[in-house]
Amino acid sequence: MPDGLATVAQVIERLGDQPGGPELLALGAERDELMLIGGAVRDLLLGLCPRELDVVVADGAADLASELASRVGALAGEGSVQRSQTAFHERFHTALVSWSDGQIDIATRRSESYAAPGALPEVSVGTIEQDLRRRDFTVNAIAIELGEPGRGTLHSAVHGLEDLAAKRLRVLHDTSFLDDPTRLLRLARYRARLGFEIEPHTADLARKALHGGALATVSRSRLGAELRLALSESEALAALVSVERLGALGAIHPGLRLDVAVAERALELSPVDAHPEVLLMASLLLGGESGNGAPLAEGQMFALLDSLEFTAPARDRIIRSAVVAPSLVARMQDAGRPSQLHGALASEALEAVALAGALAAPDSASELAARSWLGSLRNVHLAIGGEDLLAAGIPAGPEIGRRLGAALAAKLDGEIHGAREEELAVALERQG
Ligand code: CTP
Repeated sequence: MPDGLATVAQVIERLGDQPGGPELLALGAERDELMLIGGAVRDLLLGLCPRELDVVVADGAADLASELASRVGALAGEGSVQRSQTAFHERFHTALVSWSDGQIDIATRRSESYAAPGALPEVSVGTIEQDLRRRDFTVNAIAIELGEPGRGTLHSAVHGLEDLAAKRLRVLHDTSFLDDPTRLLRLARYRARLGFEIEPHTADLARKALHGGALATVSRSRLGAELRLALSESEALAALVSVERLGALGAIHPGLRLDVAVAERALELSPVDAHPEVLLMASLLLGGESGNGAPLAEGQMFALLDSLEFTAPARDRIIRSAVVAPSLVARMQDAGRPSQLHGALASEALEAVALAGALAAPDSASELAARSWLGSLRNVHLAIGGEDLLAAGIPAGPEIGRRLGAALAAKLDGEIHGAREEELAVALERQG
């Protein structure tokens, strides 16, 4: 094994610590031809924790999935089998077992051919060598047998281990990006996530594929799925920067623009309960341009996100954040008191406020307002509710809301400090 990589024995030992790992090892002891493969092997050899486990079998992916699902479920106790789910994909001979703690992807070893560039592949059952050769990058084309009697035997595409040790991304053949141009986006993602270099010939092939319009041969829905994978990386901004550096952002849509400084500041401002993928996508649209150099109009944003198949709630939240953020800068500037800030921001998404703070000049009143809203003010609530006012004799109706609003404003502005009696007194005294 090259320097810097774990040994096969260590990989198998660490597999036992992963969710679903002990069950896979137990099943391997009962059946041959079960292999750990792809990202799971890559990560375990690097000493990292895999995000999910991928295995291949000679056949019987569906049976293995059912068996695994029941073992994983049985471990968690009575009735929990329902909590693990299995899904089969007939065309690709794959199955997926997922449960609260983990996920195992099962594929039948196969070879693939592409009827047309960018089309989904035709698959047929194949050998492990064919299965390794069909993959995207050499570092993802390594497998370790879990089945007996060969447990621990390692299979690798040419250059697999050497590239993994050298932290290098290399395609397995010259038409890889043309067959499946989504690999261009995977290349960018892996470079950002793993911090790997792109091998020069692979970089050249990627450049040529992009310039030749390879991404235009892929359906918008697949492009959207790849973009969402980049946005869901734990270092999502680094993934987007990598996509842009490769020249692939404009190929997804010519209107998208990445302003790294704004995106970085917005992420820094956003609280843990904000959605970074919404914020980053909104920032791409916010800086975006339509064909004539003008900013993207709301309708264009809508069409763009729809074509990439964002869900309706995500699409609406992203667009609202991108559209409203510039106007929030001025609204935050004008809000002198916390209660006025509440009036300006309470109905806006956290991502919109974070983005507005990032658009404001550093240390400006608007930036400080965004920071204070996101950091604490948005969490200021009254201890009393409408029922307290009803009990005190205020008739049901809009007056209740107005009086509660007045009490909240007083609390936000530091006039009262939280005791229920104080809040109630203010609510009874003021009409709002
Ligand atoms: N793969 C490929 N081309 C693609 C997508 C996937 O060749 N367009 C292969 C890769 O070899 C990859 C495997 O299918 O290793 C499984 O894909 P995926 O689950 O997306 O990646 P992982 O290997 O699990 O790696 P990670 O999730 O860590 O990115």
